[in-house]
Amino acid sequence: MADSGPSLARTRPVRVPDVVASKGSGTPLVMITAYDAPSARAVEAAGADVILVGDSLAMVVLGYDDTLHVTTDDMAHHTAAVARTGPNALVVADLPWMSYHLSTQETVANAARLIRAGAGAVKLEGGRKRLDHVRAILDAEIPVMGHLGLTPQSVHALGGFRVQGKTLDAARVIVDDAIALAEAGVFGIVLECVPDAVARMVTETVPVPTIGIGAGRHCDGQVLVFHDILGWEDRITPKFVRRYAEMQADATVALARFAADVRDGSFPASPETFHAADGVTEALGLYGSSAASAASAASSSATVDA
Ligand code: KIV
Repeated sequence: MADSGPSLARTRPVRVPDVVASKGSGTPLVMITAYDAPSARAVEAAGADVILVGDSLAMVVLGYDDTLHVTTDDMAHHTAAVARTGPNALVVADLPWMSYHLSTQETVANAARLIRAGAGAVKLEGGRKRLDHVRAILDAEIPVMGHLGLTPQSVHALGGFRVQGKTLDAARVIVDDAIALAEAGVFGIVLECVPDAVARMVTETVPVPTIGIGAGRHCDGQVLVFHDILGWEDRITPKFVRRYAEMQADATVALARFAADVRDGSFPASPETFHAADGVTEALGLYGSSAASAASAASSSATVDA
């Protein structure tokens, strides 16, 4: 395997300034989603720099068709599970839909809940439209990551999960939004499903790292969803996903083998069983047969008496 360069997370916890400083280092940032302790442990052990507790939780874990159904409570619950594993990777938690769309006070309170649950930063979708809320969160000393391009919380407004920034005007909107977010103080920007030329333009324009998903190779880092990388989500494979395992298929085979072993009596076998000492087994056997005879005698006499 080729030397892929050092990850930020190997020697000490990754902090927000480390992520910012990585821009231009020549080693792309690696961000992977996780939603619970086992997925967080695997992502950490794989050497990711950032663990994203994404609101993709709604789709890949909770079975919804879009991300609009998760709440701040859900995100805090899953962020806490990830944070409890004590990863060196920076934990970034998604602010869900409607948690940063009303008052700035509510927005800051929701961001603070995710920080108290164990995140080191929050991510939210949208550009200039959300600047007041971004600034309010930053004012509370909470680091913010932006998210532009295909913003799944806008699925209805966008008319589906579609590539964004395909026309010159649409590309300019994304670049201008990225500049505005960077000027406001975000420490990184996710670019989702945009043409690589647009991602390259943003990456070369803003001083903070861009992290692409379906945005080509010219970003400062890449992110994919845990379930997509591992083939846990095998119903749809978006064009930009590279799958490295077939977990859903492998798990089904393993579980079917367990079911077959139970049904044919080969599970549990002796090594998978707790055995009592011989004397105890004998005594239990005696007790069992005399208790059974006594019970059967009592039941026959009851039948006769009746
Ligand atoms: O929720 C999520 O998983 C995300 C990634 C797609 C970047 O926001």
